[in-house]
Amino acid sequence: MKRIIIAIDGFSSCGKSTLAKGLAKSLHYAYLDSGAMYRAVTLYFIDNQVDYNDPAAVEDALHHIQIHFERIDGQNRTFLNDRDVEHDIREMRVSDHVSPVSAISAVRRAMVSQQQAMGARRGIVADGRDIGTVVFPDAELKIFLVADVDVRTSRRHLELAAKGIDAEWDDIKKNIEERDRIDSSRADSPLRKADDAVVIDNTLLSEEQQLEKALALAREKIER
Ligand code: DC
Repeated sequence: MKRIIIAIDGFSSCGKSTLAKGLAKSLHYAYLDSGAMYRAVTLYFIDNQVDYNDPAAVEDALHHIQIHFERIDGQNRTFLNDRDVEHDIREMRVSDHVSPVSAISAVRRAMVSQQQAMGARRGIVADGRDIGTVVFPDAELKIFLVADVDVRTSRRHLELAAKGIDAEWDDIKKNIEERDRIDSSRADSPLRKADDAVVIDNTLLSEEQQLEKALALAREKIER
């Protein structure tokens, strides 16, 4: 069976990871959460007081950052230098700094090369902001997800609450809008739809309906 790369891009909290995990599970593919990598770098900078406006400090810190993923009890976990940071990287203190950190070219170069290595054998679903445009421009299937901002805020609110992370609805919405703005206007690899990406608006779709649509697109590419 042909193994393809599926690239999913879109704004913050559009349900990219839900769709990516669903596709990976259905197709028995690996899942690459590229946002978790930028979050782990941001957490490292916060914990180690790295001034991310200082290029030399950033370069130096990047030499001390190793990120990998493990599946534990059916769940994807992100490891920063062998420490499980899956919970910590979702906190608002990380969300508040991750967009400026991920706009730094040295950070992007380091992450993109690790991501490309993870996808070398194909059979992978990756989600992020530049997956279809920069990381895997040759992905067989590219999906660009969109959804209404209030719906995205409510989903993020529920998701954080389920993880025991307390955050105000208004603060979450502000953070989402601010990240949309920075992610799509930065100079290096701004978020944009790849010319050959299929747009899925999931504002009114259930998780199952969204997965069904994407799976049909994937099977078309795999069986071609
Ligand atoms: O998908 P997420 O919300 O966990 O991503 C966190 C941040 O990381 C997001 O605001 C922008 C950045 N990011 C990026 O620049 N490129 C990617 N491929 C994935 C995420």
